[in-house]
Amino acid sequence: MSEKDPYSKLSIDRRTFISRLGGVAAVGLMSHEAKADALEHYLEERLYAQAEAPAQGSAEVFPTAAELKAAIPTRHYRRGAGGLFVATQTGAKVDMLPEMSAAPTLEEFFEKRFTRVGNHCLQSANKAMERGVQEEIILACLLHDTVQELIKVEHGWWGAQLYEPYVPEITSWAIRYHQALRFFPDEKAGYFYPDLYHRMFGHDYVPPPQVVATKDFALSHPWYYAAREVTVSDLYAFDPNAVVSLDKFRDLIRRHFKQPKEGLGYDNSPVAHMWRSMANPDAPL
Ligand SMILES: [Fe+2]
Ligand SMILES: [Fe+2]
Repeated sequence: MSEKDPYSKLSIDRRTFISRLGGVAAVGLMSHEAKADALEHYLEERLYAQAEAPAQGSAEVFPTAAELKAAIPTRHYRRGAGGLFVATQTGAKVDMLPEMSAAPTLEEFFEKRFTRVGNHCLQSANKAMERGVQEEIILACLLHDTVQELIKVEHGWWGAQLYEPYVPEITSWAIRYHQALRFFPDEKAGYFYPDLYHRMFGHDYVPPPQVVATKDFALSHPWYYAAREVTVSDLYAFDPNAVVSLDKFRDLIRRHFKQPKEGLGYDNSPVAHMWRSMANPDAPL
């Protein structure tokens, strides 16, 4: 394997690999191609684990940006695709989604569609509530990553657009600018560069000029504190077992979220199609 090969630093635990395939006897019945295929899948999973899984222990070696780029053609999906649209684990399938009602509410989207990022957002909002920040910013924390069900790349901008017709201006502003501010520590505000980004973007990642310019704009804005709070209350090594109930935020949603009576997706707003896309992600066109 060449130096640039993303697999070159991954060692294979033979025993784990063979037991994953069903044991020595099962491996003996496999064709050469099937074994090669299985090995490739195993290495892929290891590579993703290295790139995206939470750190195990303190001696984690983070990938470089070049290694992450070289891994692009090893995946069956693009990392910027929305969580609703792909099952990222090798061999996994997407699940059957519950039907949405005729006039879906934000709470219904939380319950039936935001099932991959919902818990992360609820935990972030809970942290913001505990920190005693204003309700419009708690709402920003509650919503800040939910658009990742639709699309992950540029999620600050997509998320702000998705929510702009329904929330206070400072809320969508904070959602938009949290994306760029994540790359820039503000230790006085309590924000440190997260290990998660060393893992996801590479330890030597340098944000591109437009991200730097967006950060500079946000820094000079009177609402900087709002977007910064989203990054401070964000959780970068969150606990999937610590479930925060949406009940804690239902009153706050009622106070600050303008729920359209026709339902999200059916109110003729400029972003209604985005809500319908999440309601019906299995539509082929
Ligand atoms: Fe985010
Ligand atoms: Fe987040």
